[in-house]
Amino acid sequence: MVADQSLQGKVALVTGASGGLGAHFARVLARAGAEVVLTARRLDRVDAEAGAINAAGGRAHARALDVAHVGEIGPLFDAVAAEIGPVAILVNNAGVGGEGRALDITPEAWDQAFDVNVRGVFFCAQAAARQMIERGVAEEGGARIVNIASIASHTVLPGLPAYCASKAAVAMLTKSLAREWARHGIAVNALCPGYVETDINGAWFATEAGQRQIKGFPRRRLMEADDLDAALLMLAGPAARAITGTLVTIDDGQSLP
Ligand SMILES: NC(=O)c1ccc[n+]([C@@H]2O[C@H](COP(=O)([O-])OP(=O)(O)OC[C@H]3O[C@@H](n4cnc5c(N)ncnc54)[C@H](OP(=O)(O)O)[C@@H]3O)[C@@H](O)[C@H]2O)c1
Repeated sequence: MVADQSLQGKVALVTGASGGLGAHFARVLARAGAEVVLTARRLDRVDAEAGAINAAGGRAHARALDVAHVGEIGPLFDAVAAEIGPVAILVNNAGVGGEGRALDITPEAWDQAFDVNVRGVFFCAQAAARQMIERGVAEEGGARIVNIASIASHTVLPGLPAYCASKAAVAMLTKSLAREWARHGIAVNALCPGYVETDINGAWFATEAGQRQIKGFPRRRLMEADDLDAALLMLAGPAARAITGTLVTIDDGQSLP
């Protein structure tokens, strides 16, 4: 584990870090020197991801957290502060696809999208901000919340009304929290990625329709997870001193008409 050590001394907590983008973000933050706490429902998976970071010379821990179970969030943040240190960087990454066209979607699928993508994001941010303020992290100037939104925050993804609505909510939540917590020095921003192939969309991109969608993108390709690294590090690190309430879209041009 080498190079950029701009996050040295910071504890970074990533939700939904058992695979996909969350596990990738945890590796990126660890490479930049942060001590990373990987959380998700599948503890065996976050354990394995944290183990790989530690084996590569980084510092990582694994904890179970279901962000849809709000009662788990406060105790988890308290335990992390007591056992590892107060959280300075929260990456609110856990998310679900909320599949279902508008005529078909069930109340259960709708609620799941909002419970994870919006309610979970809000209550993790609240727990993090309380800790950042109470433990003096915010006062030191390094408190960062990065919400993983999507191009769906501002662009219609056909057939995904619940997902789009939930990610649009994350965008406005990001601005609201940034405004309220600006005086505390907490930077709250959102990263809006375009499509990267992960478990959330792998089955779709394996279909003919999914392949046609890729051919319709301006660059006729999907993005790679590491296309997001520079923006993540900007929003998580010292560069975000004067960046708050901002949506950073990194999408290889996918949302251009
Ligand atoms: N891939 C893309 O193209 C893309 C584009 C834009 C935005 N995003 C966003 O990026 C984030 C990560 O997505 P991904 O592509 O990496 O998908 P993924 O591979 O399906 O990963 C989703 C992660 O969220 C976790 N998760 C789901 N429900 C949870 C819950 N109730 N509590 C805690 N964790 C939960 C999963 O872990 P467990 O199942 O172990 O809990 C998993 O680690 C999501 O917010 C997604 O909307 C993805």
